[in-house]
Amino acid sequence: MKLRIIVFIGVLLCVIIASCQSEAEQDFKRYYTGGAIIYKDKCQNCHGAKGEGLSSLIPPLTDTAYLKKNKAELGCFIKYGIKETIVTINGKAFEGAMPANVDLTPIEIAKLLTYVGNSFGNKMGTIAFEEADADLAKCE
Ligand code: HEC
Repeated sequence: MKLRIIVFIGVLLCVIIASCQSEAEQDFKRYYTGGAIIYKDKCQNCHGAKGEGLSSLIPPLTDTAYLKKNKAELGCFIKYGIKETIVTINGKAFEGAMPANVDLTPIEIAKLLTYVGNSFGNKMGTIAFEEADADLAKCE
């Protein structure tokens, strides 16, 4: 009898854990594919299909260290643009300006960051709405 209960609880836990994982995976896929569409529409012209950037004008999005270090500010960059030359990657400064996208909602920015943060060699995981929204509140 005791053994049965233990087996039952064990099976139940497995089912719960498996369904949690697939829910997180589904969230990731939803964010990532949504972000890819917005990226093509609003970012690819400048940053390139592979996030490669353009000479000394537009920085690449392939620098994992830069993105990780400035993770909390990326949403503000995207929403309000970058006017001064503030981005320096591997000692190289970029002179172009990045336009603002004030019409993008926090959920769209979360999707974009999940796409950029997990493409071009980056592995930052899902950047959820709650996180993007909290970071955006700092620059509003
Ligand atoms: C008109 C060209 C242009 C467009 C469109 C554009 N960017 Fe940028 N982006 C730039 C430039 C130029 C910089 C560097 C600005 C500086 O330091 O003065 C930059 C910087 C960045 C940075 C920080 C530096 C880096 O390389 O990691 C990120 C992240 C970024 N852009 C993401 C995006 C995303 C996401 C979009 C789409 C919503 C986008 N950009 C649209 C030109 C552009």
